[in-house]
Amino acid sequence: MDRRGFIRTGAAAAAVLAVPEWVAAAISGLTESEIERKVVQIVAQMTLDEKIKQMAGHVPLTNLAQRVLNPKYPDTWNTPENDRLGVPSIRSIDGPRGCGTGKSTAFPAGMCRGATWDEKLEQRVGEAAGYECRAQTANLLLSPCVNVLWHPSWGRAQETYGEDPHHLGIMGAAHVTGAQKHVMACPKHFAANNIEESRFSVNAVMDERTLREIYLPHFRKCVEAGAASVMSAYNDLNGELCGHNEHLLRDVLKGDWEFEGFVVSDWIMAVEDEVEAALAGLDLEMPRGTHFGRKLKKAVLNGEVPEQVIDEAVSRILRMKFRFIKPDFTEGYDMGMVGGEKHAALARETAEKGIVLLKNDNKALPLLGDVKTLAVGGGHAARVVMGDKGSSAVNPPYAVSPLEGIESKAGGRVKIIKAGSSPSSAASAAGKADAAVLFVGLDWKDEGEHFPIVEVGGDRKDLGLSKKDVKLIKSVAASSERCIVVVYGGSAITMEDWKDDVDAIVMAWYPGMEGGSALANVLFGDVNPSGKLPIVFPKSMDQLYKFDNKAKEVHYDYYHGYRYFDKNGLEPAWPFGFGKSYTTYEYSNLRLSEDEIGSSGSIKAKVDVKNAGDMAGEEIVELYVGYQGSEVHRPVKDLKAFARVRLEPGRKETVALEIRAQDLAYYSEEVNDWVVEEIEYEVMVGPSSKEEDLIKAGFKIFGP
Ligand code: BGC
Repeated sequence: MDRRGFIRTGAAAAAVLAVPEWVAAAISGLTESEIERKVVQIVAQMTLDEKIKQMAGHVPLTNLAQRVLNPKYPDTWNTPENDRLGVPSIRSIDGPRGCGTGKSTAFPAGMCRGATWDEKLEQRVGEAAGYECRAQTANLLLSPCVNVLWHPSWGRAQETYGEDPHHLGIMGAAHVTGAQKHVMACPKHFAANNIEESRFSVNAVMDERTLREIYLPHFRKCVEAGAASVMSAYNDLNGELCGHNEHLLRDVLKGDWEFEGFVVSDWIMAVEDEVEAALAGLDLEMPRGTHFGRKLKKAVLNGEVPEQVIDEAVSRILRMKFRFIKPDFTEGYDMGMVGGEKHAALARETAEKGIVLLKNDNKALPLLGDVKTLAVGGGHAARVVMGDKGSSAVNPPYAVSPLEGIESKAGGRVKIIKAGSSPSSAASAAGKADAAVLFVGLDWKDEGEHFPIVEVGGDRKDLGLSKKDVKLIKSVAASSERCIVVVYGGSAITMEDWKDDVDAIVMAWYPGMEGGSALANVLFGDVNPSGKLPIVFPKSMDQLYKFDNKAKEVHYDYYHGYRYFDKNGLEPAWPFGFGKSYTTYEYSNLRLSEDEIGSSGSIKAKVDVKNAGDMAGEEIVELYVGYQGSEVHRPVKDLKAFARVRLEPGRKETVALEIRAQDLAYYSEEVNDWVVEEIEYEVMVGPSSKEEDLIKAGFKIFGP
């Protein structure tokens, strides 16, 4: 490839390609040079019509309408094969919560998985979803969603992993690595897709430094993990539709990052002009060739689009097909695994690790032997609430409600009173019980992917719970000795109006098909909660910048989320990275491997973490960096590493975290490149991003 992503042909092409070893080895069995030779040979034999056919889906209009009107419609979205030349079709399926076809495993939503901060676990989730896709003949999983959560009002917040580019990149790349053991993955939506209801029209405006440092690094990590494709977003970025955005697609993705895969448009209305899109570097229009069909052929014939551009796009698509698809694609794949026990157990483990304990006064949790009678109420208690009904929805073979989870765990030994959701009857039930648990929060009507025709989902206008839920909580809290509230939602919920009234608060997010069992395990102490917030929880909407989903243009500042709170000295309700446990952890003895490193070096931070309580648990250790004497404005602290460690009671472990000098660079618009500054850096390690939680050490970068 040249600097901007155009394909070189023949041996030169084979020589420059570098792909993670496992990708080629695991799937097609062909070597990279065999794949490149095959691509060149086949492109040379294709007619223009055959090439252009490769560049668009061929989903019939009837299927399309059905898919929008009935989100349960489970078919794959396909592109044509070419039998004459032995080229298979792409069979794509959503998405971020698991495989969207058939009766597949519904994993917890992305935000819950983000709260696990568990890279290896997310790799296993990606692997399981990829397996289920492949068993059901799909070869492209339209996942992960790695858009930055810029503002908690975003309707699709639940699909992504959080607000921090480093954390998002680690989780997204893990998902790609796992999924691509079986199928192609598709990080989306590239880029700055952070408002739902105006996604088709809004122009996201930001400077180059903000783009490179905040809105793109996580996509880059997914590309470095070998992602086969990237989905362009619906919105404009700096005045150019993302699917027509030459800077984004050619300069950055295919140029700077040397991406070898193909760029697929988001679905419907994401391409407006075939010439602009093709020249800018879009390779595949989905789900139909509205522009990449007859119109594109005409543009090639009249010279507006050079045939070399078509060859480049087709080569990218074929390269990935030959890397990932083989004739006996589903052989050995067991349908029994789809939505089966093993993956359901993984969904449960993931929910258990992603559930966040926000408050736990007077040891209200766990519910131990002293609780003989338990009142269970709230609108979500007897329901299965797994998230929105948009493209990330999954239809599992079964799903467990919280009440079912509690009954099967404790029904024999604890008397369970169904308290319902009317404030007066729930309060009276709670008054007769040793403790009360309320399951409340959001569902698909409150937030999610938005389809204008059927008006489902959309962004949140308010960050609090409904008046009904608040009334219920307050009534129950007034009559209960021990009131526990479990909250569902895809991102931050404001709780100032009731949080002081209750004893414990658990953030369940959307915990997937096994959510009810996972919650019961956490509430009764079979599992020690370990999830931490991957986003900051504000006290009120007023603490945040404006979210206007009617605006045609939105200006994105460099600072959002915890960086914005830090910069403006605001105190959140709960900080980024926060989460309690049934035990306590002590941090000590932070030390660095060097005092000074060069700009291409790296440094190791070691810290001792002790479980000072009496219950085994897992702790997420977070490392932030601060910049002293920088020539440019910098965040007060920047997450640069994290790790999960399991600790038995009384046990102390040394946790090592690495920071590369390159990862501390800022993007200079003057030199159009990354600059590692020769300044002092502060390393801050602890259980959350809260200043008082962090212990500190410093080092310098000097010389190369
Ligand atoms: C969504 C994508 C999804 C696609 C296919 C679009 O509306 O934005 O995330 O992958 O539909 O379902």
